[in-house]
Amino acid sequence: MHIDAPLTIALPKGRIFDDTLPLLARCGVEPLDDPQTSRKLILETNRPQVKLVLIRASDVPTYVQYGAADLGVAGKDVLMEHGGEGLYEPLDLGIARCRLMVAGIPDADLGPGRLRIATKFVHSTERYFAAQGKQVEIIKLYGSMELAPLVGLSDLIVDLVESGNTLKANGLVPLEHIADISARLVINKASWKTKHGSVTALLDALRQAVAAG
Ligand code: PRP
Repeated sequence: MHIDAPLTIALPKGRIFDDTLPLLARCGVEPLDDPQTSRKLILETNRPQVKLVLIRASDVPTYVQYGAADLGVAGKDVLMEHGGEGLYEPLDLGIARCRLMVAGIPDADLGPGRLRIATKFVHSTERYFAAQGKQVEIIKLYGSMELAPLVGLSDLIVDLVESGNTLKANGLVPLEHIADISARLVINKASWKTKHGSVTALLDALRQAVAAG
């Protein structure tokens, strides 16, 4: 893999980061500091031209959109909320797979009125219910959505479901499937043009790493 232009890759901390590191390693890119113990937000790698920046998952599209990072890895859930402006999304990395779902209390009497939906995925939720011609009231939360129907804050939630254990532990059931989610590689549109050789070299290497499983 020949990279001559400096490339910054934005990665969210947590599961996507843990699952992306082995893919990057297969491309011959490894952080110099141990990311488990380092508190640095900018990690140099064994490739002098490549550095990693560690940010919040929901900030990845923003960093890449504005060119503060040339590439990034973001969940489809985050990209659906962001809208994808200024980004190419050329590769499904097949990691961090889950489903965006509507969930609620089993057999709840939801009545004829306007439903209240608690979620942090406001835009995706709006689009989903609007496509069904349903007017809903969306209550924006930042986490622990499962609590909302239990304490009467909302009728339903829209949240990510992986194993289903969190729903089950809180007496909720999945009701409707909105989208399959996985982590995607995103690329800044200007970097795609100005650093085309280096960006496509990394993209091709990642594509092979994903195909190799
Ligand atoms: C996600 C999601 C659910 C849980 C689903 O939360 O919001 O709460 O995982 O996983 P499960 O189906 O395997 O139980 P996460 O831990 O990512 O934290 P969050 O509350 O910040 O979204």
